[in-house]
Amino acid sequence: MTQGIHPTSTLVLGGTGKTGRRIGDRLRARGLPVRIGSRSVEPPFDWDDRETWAPVLDGVGSVYISYYPDVAVPGAAGIIRSFAETAVAAGVDRLVLLSGRGEDEAQATEKVIQDAGVEWTILRASWFNQNFSESYLLDSVLSGAVVLPTGDVPEPFVDVDDIADIAVAAFTDDRHVGQVYEVTGPRLLTFADAAAEIGAAAGRDLRYVPITSEDFAAALLHEGLPPEFVTDLTDLFRAILDGRNASLADGVQRALGREPRDFRDYARDAAASGIWTTDAVSISR
Ligand SMILES: NC(=O)c1ccc[n+]([C@@H]2O[C@H](COP(=O)([O-])OP(=O)(O)OC[C@H]3O[C@@H](n4cnc5c(N)ncnc54)[C@H](OP(=O)(O)O)[C@@H]3O)[C@@H](O)[C@H]2O)c1
Repeated sequence: MTQGIHPTSTLVLGGTGKTGRRIGDRLRARGLPVRIGSRSVEPPFDWDDRETWAPVLDGVGSVYISYYPDVAVPGAAGIIRSFAETAVAAGVDRLVLLSGRGEDEAQATEKVIQDAGVEWTILRASWFNQNFSESYLLDSVLSGAVVLPTGDVPEPFVDVDDIADIAVAAFTDDRHVGQVYEVTGPRLLTFADAAAEIGAAAGRDLRYVPITSEDFAAALLHEGLPPEFVTDLTDLFRAILDGRNASLADGVQRALGREPRDFRDYARDAAASGIWTTDAVSISR
């Protein structure tokens, strides 16, 4: 699909992913021009190929930045700095960054965006609910066991629909310029709690199996994942699940004036969609 150019288009990077797809849908529903940024649309956008950056920025006024694979991996801040410089030089005057909680590289990336010289909003998100239904944990749910090195540390899982609502507000309402929204769900749940809620909603046996970081890394390497990716992911899990993020934040309430969506409502709706009753489909993050 070739996308048209509009002088006030919003470029949504990661626009085929969990947050980006919802943001694109919401902006289009308001009649606003959107360009999706991903490797699978025309013109393509690839973080690993800088030649693709300028063409997708042509005629764009604002950008949603969702970095892949993760804003916390070493080097993310430098790449996003280069992208932001390219975007500002191309005429972009508003950047909305999807960031992560409690991650050093993510904090460095936030500073890059805050210093880019244009209007900005930062969404500093906790772990997404939808990782269990639209991402790498779907196979785990379907297999009956969520096996992670996350111990019994509670996490305030956030719903990506809330993130999408805030991003759209940030593109359409100047009140959000210069705000850092720390977004979480309304409850702390351990991964065992989350597995129990999904099991109950989906009517299937699902348990959480804690493993050590070493065993987790060994299992990923055994599956054939690249060693560098395994190291980054294991380091990320070790860092963000040491208890530093085991608290609620009020970003959804501050940005939207309403409560965040509860994990139980997410699990009920995801179960009703049939995603946890179909045959396993591999979805990578
Ligand atoms: N998942 C969480 O719990 C969580 C929590 C907090 C923050 N975050 C942040 O959210 C961001 C996105 O992660 P996610 O898990 O939500 O993924 P996602 O957005 O659901 O999926 C990845 C998206 O990135 C695109 N993509 C993949 N490789 C790309 C590349 N080389 N160049 C350009 N686009 C590429 C994919 O499109 P194509 O495959 O079509 O290119 C897809 O649109 C990360 O920066 C992460 O740090 C995630």
